[in-house]
Amino acid sequence: MAENDTSSTTSAQNSGLGLAVVDWFAVHARALPWRSTYDPYQVWVSEIMLQQTQMERGTEYFLRWMQRFPDLSALATAHEDEVLKMWEGLGYYARARNLHRAARQVCAEYAGQIPQDMRQLQLLPGIGPYTAAAIASIAYNQDVCVVDANVERIMSRVCNVDTPIKAKATQTRIREVCQDMLPLGQSRNFNQGLMDLGGLVCTPRSPLCPSCPLATWCLARAAGVQEERPVVSPPATPVYITMATGVLCHAGRFFVQKRKADDIWAHLWEFPGGVVEENEDPADTVVREYMEETGLHVTEPEYIGAFQHSYTRYRVTMHAFFVRLDADPRTVELTAAQEYRWATWDQVLTLAFPAGHRKLIAALKQSGMPGHSSGPRHASHRTQC
Ligand code: ADE
Repeated sequence: MAENDTSSTTSAQNSGLGLAVVDWFAVHARALPWRSTYDPYQVWVSEIMLQQTQMERGTEYFLRWMQRFPDLSALATAHEDEVLKMWEGLGYYARARNLHRAARQVCAEYAGQIPQDMRQLQLLPGIGPYTAAAIASIAYNQDVCVVDANVERIMSRVCNVDTPIKAKATQTRIREVCQDMLPLGQSRNFNQGLMDLGGLVCTPRSPLCPSCPLATWCLARAAGVQEERPVVSPPATPVYITMATGVLCHAGRFFVQKRKADDIWAHLWEFPGGVVEENEDPADTVVREYMEETGLHVTEPEYIGAFQHSYTRYRVTMHAFFVRLDADPRTVELTAAQEYRWATWDQVLTLAFPAGHRKLIAALKQSGMPGHSSGPRHASHRTQC
């Protein structure tokens, strides 16, 4: 840490900083939908969603979610497929499934009342220390700080922290300073004030220092290094993967399978396929994977296109094909999925798919599918379907 870092900000100074944040929030708070009532269920859902995505997109998903699952019991009684569909596009689908399971648990064990106690909160699926603190503070105004990436950035600048932000010692230090700054009884506004300050003013690039209520205290600004804070470790090297998948349509229905519980993209639906092996033609991959994963012998792969998506450090190129059955459907033997369906196109559109498949489905939708107004360009397969 720099010489005049956090250790030189006293508790008295820190409480001045905390109040400055609260005052700033009173004027500049963003009008976010869960802020109208601070209903604990809404706060919880918003927190889980915002761990996945930016504010604008998170808000869209939140509003759509609340229309369909307006309260805990609506969520608890929903089918998992629908929960996943409402989450589709946010990624990290385990979070949606955990939310669903936790909603059921709160209904069963707490008569539908989301606990206030941090320890009880953390016993619910998908609620770790961060989410528990966020619910306790934002919904119940308990005096606990909530350290997200915005808060890390602000604190690393105010205190000019020159050690890697994700290092354990740095995290501990930031949490301590933050807790010290928190004006008692005002945690909801303090924590959200920091979040909004990070989103609107103390932004990752080109921070708007002249508009910042903490500018006079900010050590990184004084040293002119605000853009170099926080110190981040270099990103993991990307891993490139080539996959192939086949859209099998037979008698107007599409073969889809639901991924296993212990797999990546667990419980999401997909068209069968897999990783293209070294020196393998992607068209052959599809035929091979269908046989391995379903026991179905498909033929005549007809190229649809390539679809790119990223998952953590993986950069996936997925080649997609239409395929045909060589004969009438025979017994399906699943090896890579928990369930399969012959789904109509409209049913396909109600299921949740991983990102690459969603792009494929969007492309097919655009070119038109059976029963829809315009036909796909891949006429031969469409005619058969
Ligand atoms: N990020 C996560 N939770 C938030 C909240 N309640 N307000 C603003 N940004 C957030």
